[in-house]
Amino acid sequence: MAHDFHGGEIYGLEDGFVDFSVNINPLGFPENVWKEMLEHPELATLYPDQDCAKLRKALGKKLGIAPKNIICGNGASEIFSMIARGLKPEKALVTAPTFSGYEHALRQVGATIAYHRLMEQDQFALTETYIESLTDFKPNIAFLCQPNNPVGNLIDHDFLEKIMDICEQQETFLVLDICFLGFTHDDERWYYKKLSTHPHLILGSAFTKLYAMPGIRLGYMAMDNFYDFDDIVDQQTEWSVSGIAQWVGQRVLEESDYVEEGRKLVDEERAYLTDQLTRMGFTVFPSEANFILVKGDWRVADSLYKKEYLVRKAYNFKGLDNEYFRIAVKTHEENEELVWALQIIQADMITFQEIGRQGIDDMVAIREMHRDRFEMPEITDDIMGFGV
Ligand SMILES: Cc1ncc(COP(=O)(O)O)c(C=O)c1O
Repeated sequence: MAHDFHGGEIYGLEDGFVDFSVNINPLGFPENVWKEMLEHPELATLYPDQDCAKLRKALGKKLGIAPKNIICGNGASEIFSMIARGLKPEKALVTAPTFSGYEHALRQVGATIAYHRLMEQDQFALTETYIESLTDFKPNIAFLCQPNNPVGNLIDHDFLEKIMDICEQQETFLVLDICFLGFTHDDERWYYKKLSTHPHLILGSAFTKLYAMPGIRLGYMAMDNFYDFDDIVDQQTEWSVSGIAQWVGQRVLEESDYVEEGRKLVDEERAYLTDQLTRMGFTVFPSEANFILVKGDWRVADSLYKKEYLVRKAYNFKGLDNEYFRIAVKTHEENEELVWALQIIQADMITFQEIGRQGIDDMVAIREMHRDRFEMPEITDDIMGFGV
């Protein structure tokens, strides 16, 4: 089976593409850390510590929890698979749209998945209707992404606490994916403090996005419930977290200035991109993260691709179609280039519009004839708007 399509699919492309599809820290991986790492050849020659003891200790200190409640994994993705295999849920609730990795993990264990549809008229925010989905369907597990990928919006703490309490009462495991939280101004420790009073709460995160290190593969989860935690830990492949990942993880935790600088850059540049794109007539949905979801003409993403700018087409996020695309917030120079490319594309489209109705109808007919060569949105039965 082919793997799920994500951002960052640059393999096979010509050099020169600017990748706005992968949403990682625009500052890039801290170069000084890479250089220091090269002074440690033992990272390549020794088996890694299976317990990731030093890294878990450093993480525990940062997050304000005991290291025994943390497990590290080969990216957040391995963590989600371990959770699904360890807890074996029969019924699962995910939102649409959201990151497809939850579904990927849940499909591996044959869980029945219900989708809670997030509505465009609500700016894709989670609303009270989610409570109905949760209490009517009573899933064994629910996944929420905070801030949500591909939108970048946050659920407020009061509402989230209500959801945590309901999950606790009805024994639904609530997996909160906070991989992008470090780009926002939300208080990470608030989440970790909830663990001791919510044994069904699982926090999943990763170094991947905040430290721009998707190739190193390092994620982690935290839970304060020994029995279920142990079932999850049992699912891990031996030595799945490399010595390099463990060393780099500990080292980057010291880079608080780098994180602060990245967050500041993201704030400024997200505002710049939002402003420029809105002026051009695109709809930009509210985001507090390092990416924005944009709605516009379905041809824009392909036109950008022809100009060697890769954006994340969003048609394979359940609940979205090919009018939407996600843009990562990058450095000012890169963002400015993208804005110029979009301006040129828009100018070209005006010319296109001048070919008139008949011209457009002809284009549509040609597109239909070659349907299988174009990317068309999948309309599937499982987008059922559960609970709304
Ligand atoms: C919301 C979210 N969580 C988790 C992941 C996967 O993270 P990792 O690369 O650490 O497995 C992604 C990847 O795009 C993501 O968007």
